[in-house]
Amino acid sequence: MAEHLTIVDHPLVQHKLTLMRDKGTPTAVFRQTLKEISQLLAYEITRELPMTHKPIDTPMEEMDAPVLAGKKMALVSILRAGNGLLDGVLELIPSARVGFVGLYRDEETLEPVQYYFKVPDALEDRLVIAVDPMLATGNSSAAAVELLKKAGARNIRFMCLLAAPEGVSRMKEAHPDVPIVTAALDRGLNEKGYIMPGLGDAGDRMFGTK
Ligand code: URA
Repeated sequence: MAEHLTIVDHPLVQHKLTLMRDKGTPTAVFRQTLKEISQLLAYEITRELPMTHKPIDTPMEEMDAPVLAGKKMALVSILRAGNGLLDGVLELIPSARVGFVGLYRDEETLEPVQYYFKVPDALEDRLVIAVDPMLATGNSSAAAVELLKKAGARNIRFMCLLAAPEGVSRMKEAHPDVPIVTAALDRGLNEKGYIMPGLGDAGDRMFGTK
């Protein structure tokens, strides 16, 4: 992808995002809507995937038909909120391999702390799509991408639902080679590191915790 930041301003994405921002939206609707948006974001983030051709027979004649080239892609969920984006994308790309990076944010320093890391093999030969709904300070996203690079990944894209300018700058500085696809770029962060106007804590809203 040529752009570092792509904002998917498609009307369906924006309408669904408004539903998710509304604090009156129940958990089940939030989760379902996140799944729907994840598929629209996945459509955008995979737009320029390399293609090849293979010979097939249609009922009418032979043809050289386009198919995705290369090794199966790897989807990496940044736990726990990343899991909310996983199911939808996997429905669209069922052959994708799946990895998990567990990072939690220290509430005082806002720095990421790793507690889990399990990713598919041969990351260096795969397109790796890291997913996390909220790109806030960018600290945990940058740390997760760093871990993926250490594990061999060379072609990484980052998919989120909401981004803050602070998070986008942090990622651009740490990983200028990693394009970001988001549904919206919000105003900024509050003093606790939450995105404003945002949608609150994505994990809590999708899993019904507090
Ligand atoms: N994580 C969230 O879930 N929400 C925010 O606003 C920022 C980080």
